[in-house]
Amino acid sequence: MSAMTPKMIESINDQIRAELESAYIYLSMSAYLEDQGLKGMAHWMRKQAGEEMEHAEKFMNYLYERGARVVLEAIAKPATDFDGPAGVFKEALKHEQYVSGRIYKMMDLALTEKDHMTASMLKWFIDEQVEEESSADEIVKKLEFLGGSNASVYLLDKELGQR
Ligand SMILES: [Fe+2]
Ligand SMILES: [Fe+2]
Repeated sequence: MSAMTPKMIESINDQIRAELESAYIYLSMSAYLEDQGLKGMAHWMRKQAGEEMEHAEKFMNYLYERGARVVLEAIAKPATDFDGPAGVFKEALKHEQYVSGRIYKMMDLALTEKDHMTASMLKWFIDEQVEEESSADEIVKKLEFLGGSNASVYLLDKELGQR
């Protein structure tokens, strides 16, 4: 097993930060939704935050396996105010698209460096991003379709509470 390049290690460490930052963003969205009385949606977002923490752990374990050093960096303060539940899920979708772009760049780097072990590990994340984008997109579309009436938001809140 060949050693990873410092550039590749740095990019994975920065992604660990980004995954933890994602968790923080989703927890902030969850807190906002709780405050709006949308407990089901808040629960959905809290689960999402948990997944992001698992992603961070997956990257950390990968670095350990490759004998590389994990370095945790500072995460930014997340937004606290959103434009209602539709605004929250639109932001979440935008964020997932941003994360997909980051993973693509990491894959590009892994291929440039002929680091096929890292490319193989990243493939899981690319598949995961398909799910992440589509689940956020589905909720955005539902909220648009339902038109944001109180009754429809109430029903969707119930549905998302099942996650
Ligand atoms: Fe993630
Ligand atoms: Fe995600």
